Amino acid sequence: MSTNSNRKLLAEEAEALADAARINYFNIVIESGQGAVVKDIEGKQYIDLLSSASATNTGHAHPHVVRAIQEQAAKLIQYTPAYFANEPAAKLAQRLCALAPISGSKKLAWGNSGSDANDGIIKFARAYTKRPYLVSFMGAYHGSTYGSMSLSAVSLNMTRNIGPLLPGVIKVPYPDPWQRLKGESEDDFVTRMFAEFKRPFETFLPAEETALIIIEPIQGDGGIVKAPTAFVRKVAEFAHSHGILFAVDEVNQGLGRTGKWWSIQHFDIEPDLISVGKSLASGLPLSAVIGRAEIMDSLGAPAHLFTTSGNPVTTAAAMATLDVIEDEQLVQRSADLGKEAKEFFEAEQAKYDFIGQCRMYGLDGGIDIVDPQTQKPDPVATTKLIYRIFELGAIMISLKTNVLRFQPPLVITEKQLHQAFKIIAQAFSELDEGKLTLPHNADNIGW
Ligand SMILES: Cc1ncc(COP(=O)(O)O)c(C=O)c1O
Repeated sequence: MSTNSNRKLLAEEAEALADAARINYFNIVIESGQGAVVKDIEGKQYIDLLSSASATNTGHAHPHVVRAIQEQAAKLIQYTPAYFANEPAAKLAQRLCALAPISGSKKLAWGNSGSDANDGIIKFARAYTKRPYLVSFMGAYHGSTYGSMSLSAVSLNMTRNIGPLLPGVIKVPYPDPWQRLKGESEDDFVTRMFAEFKRPFETFLPAEETALIIIEPIQGDGGIVKAPTAFVRKVAEFAHSHGILFAVDEVNQGLGRTGKWWSIQHFDIEPDLISVGKSLASGLPLSAVIGRAEIMDSLGAPAHLFTTSGNPVTTAAAMATLDVIEDEQLVQRSADLGKEAKEFFEAEQAKYDFIGQCRMYGLDGGIDIVDPQTQKPDPVATTKLIYRIFELGAIMISLKTNVLRFQPPLVITEKQLHQAFKIIAQAFSELDEGKLTLPHNADNIGW
């Protein structure tokens, strides 16, 4: 064992790192990464099925991205874009606006995280509409700043002991599959969920005082759950007919993850505003709120700027990231490999009663693990599975306690993907045979 073992470093870190700053899964220290493979400090390799929480769609240490970072760092690491422009950020602004799924004239403002991009959406929406109220969905994860966490509703630990949150936020139910009644058709489900969505507007929330409806059209941390197209369209139409801005959070699901550039392109709807982050700079801290120009022009400086947002190194990394997505056709690759992944999980689902619904949109999957008898969520089996998959050499975590999260880098090779399938299949088969046990730290695993 090297002197820097996982256990030793984690013990040292634990003395200084606050519990609030890590969701525990596996006791490893990541030392390096290449493509879809990461190595821990003891030299053990893992196929990465998490992509650093969908923040490395172009894989780890992509040579083109690394070169761009190195070259830019040698020239200028930082001069605050809050006061002066830099070349990569200036070029990226236009390129990213052109890519955004919004027609007409667009502008953006930089940030350092998906969270602050969503705070930006709140600011611009309130400023443009001059209205106070904000609507978001149950199950959403929009971030960890006060604004973005006020929009979120996915974990009690996010809000416990730190309220009051931002006032004026109303949460409406998200049409996730668990809410569908037995035998209910998709049309009936949409009708029922849209009626639920409208209830606040009919009882206590004046639409003409509402600034924003923000949605993850495919919820990420909510379990990789895609809202029915008809539902999202009805919500967008409702927003537009009442002068409410319709915003889409693409932080987790954007940039090719779902087999399209943007997840909202599955719905054929145009948002007024979007937030982008995570994979934008291959994991370097860069985010953006992008919106129709007239909305973005509703605030003046310094309403939404940060010392390091639009930093030259992160924006150079983002330019290189977009090159890689385009040159290596990663959006199509995500769609193609996602089909293979869907087939794999559906074949496994046919074998085992403990696999509930399998959702896969590009290389973006949520696989429900359920109790075979009751078909209810089975967090214990889920933890056994992810831990066994980890032992066998792949990193996969759970969402909502019983959903397997499948989000490999879009550059994953077919060989690596098939190896990952082999590992997952082995874990499923061992669970079925009753061979899997909970790890000793099971109580400490997950959200
Ligand atoms: C959909 C979505 N929005 C926003 C965020 C927040 O991004 P960040 O952690 O970079 O602040 C996340 C993070 O997981 C996310 O999944």
